[in-house]
Amino acid sequence: MKILALLVFVTFSGLAQNTYNLIPLPKEVTPSTGQFTVKKSTNIGFSHADFAPVASLLQEYLQGASGYPISAKSAKSAVIQFSQNNTLGEEAYTLSIHSSKISIQAKTGKGAFYALQTLLQLMPAQVYAGTKIQETISIPNVQIKDEPRFSYRGLMLDVGRYYYPVASVKRFIDLMAIYKMNTFHWHLTEDQGWRIEIKKYPLLTSISSVRKQSMLGHYKDQQYDGKPHGGFYTQEEVKDIVAYAAKKYIEVIPEIEMPGHSQAVLAAYPQFGANADKLYQVKTKWGVSEDVLFPREETFTFLEDVLTEVMALFPGQYIHIGGDECPKTQWKESKFCQDLIKKLGLKDEHELQSYFIRRIDKFVTSKGKKLLGWDEILEGGLSPNAMVMSWRGTAGGVEAAKQNHDVVMSPNSYFYLDYYQADPKTEPIAIGGNLPLSKCYSFEPNLPELTAEEAKHVVGIQANLWTEYISNIAYAEYMTYPRALALSEISWSTKESKNYPDFKKRLTGHLPAMDALKINYSKAFLSQP
Ligand code: ACM
Repeated sequence: MKILALLVFVTFSGLAQNTYNLIPLPKEVTPSTGQFTVKKSTNIGFSHADFAPVASLLQEYLQGASGYPISAKSAKSAVIQFSQNNTLGEEAYTLSIHSSKISIQAKTGKGAFYALQTLLQLMPAQVYAGTKIQETISIPNVQIKDEPRFSYRGLMLDVGRYYYPVASVKRFIDLMAIYKMNTFHWHLTEDQGWRIEIKKYPLLTSISSVRKQSMLGHYKDQQYDGKPHGGFYTQEEVKDIVAYAAKKYIEVIPEIEMPGHSQAVLAAYPQFGANADKLYQVKTKWGVSEDVLFPREETFTFLEDVLTEVMALFPGQYIHIGGDECPKTQWKESKFCQDLIKKLGLKDEHELQSYFIRRIDKFVTSKGKKLLGWDEILEGGLSPNAMVMSWRGTAGGVEAAKQNHDVVMSPNSYFYLDYYQADPKTEPIAIGGNLPLSKCYSFEPNLPELTAEEAKHVVGIQANLWTEYISNIAYAEYMTYPRALALSEISWSTKESKNYPDFKKRLTGHLPAMDALKINYSKAFLSQP
């Protein structure tokens, strides 16, 4: 009798505070009682062709999980019905679950896609596994109205330090989409490897994409594995990944680094650096290289050629050109650079870097694209539509917003996923730092330094996975999840709903779904405050 009473209590209390374990938390959730059950007679209808791909995705999940032959076709009133509502925003949706009917409204396929992600999170976790589940598929009744707080919700993957095969990149994209992130920043070039085929410069793939060996252990240990590491994406593979991401409503932003982080380029084309006669190597040590691109006319021609091929592959509006961490030693010691500084009437090498970035900015802008770069690009004046990614804390982002530039906040102390998420003694090797899940979650993009008008320039946030110590997708997932879910929630959910204990509780309830998705997530947060 006591046990029965306890069971009843648990069931009711679960319902009373029903949070449905949704991540990111939707804007408005109105709980209800009762449930919808998937039956043999369940069918899916859509009122607009834009919803057809999402309807067939849902069909696939439901057929896989239930074993019933569920139809999905153009219709006005099916049991699960997608309808168009033009009063909603581009990414917004409503989801209404009643015992006998599920209604989804959205303006676009993107909104419908996000409704699908929410709906899946309400189903038994095993729905993600793609195989038939024994239990009946029940979905709790609820009314949801949802739209994101920020338009830019990003993750960056550094494939320069380690090449990630196409299938791994797609897996990274798959998981982003489930949590309503919409921008994949693909860091394609580094001192330690160039990863994208450029037809006009074949040595970038035959030479710049391979380094002799990689570091083992921490940087201070100075040990190497003695094994060459390389890989690159053909232009066909790039197109395939961009199209794959687009189906999941994710825009891919390519990053081509300049003028720093370019030692791999110099291994193939030394004429773009300090010394055309030097035998440069693709860098094997981690860290920042002194070997940088020189602002020669030939270098600009090269970069414009590269960017022309890159822009043809990426239909999105932004091209990321890096711009961070460019040591000025070689420019200081160069007669060419010093003469150029005088000729252009510049003050020093920092102004020379600004000249470099401004030239590239003009080129990118002239091609109808927008320039994006790390916060160092702010130093010398930019075209009005250039966007700044603030990584050295938030100061660069604040300054950029005050200068009327759009900004993505990506401060290293909150969003560098290569930092440890628990005591290093208990963790696989990482670069350093201390970034538990709760700290990621604590970031508030609405900074007090900004007026309401300036704050509108903060278009969103991004977390970055640098991969010096992360050589495969399983480890990448371990570093990314669940911390990327903090990013997902801060960027999507309202400021007012932000609540770490509640997030942690929902996340804990959501873990079976992450298990069904076979995400290699870290459990460190469970034993952290
Ligand atoms: C950076 O971490 N150098 C952008």
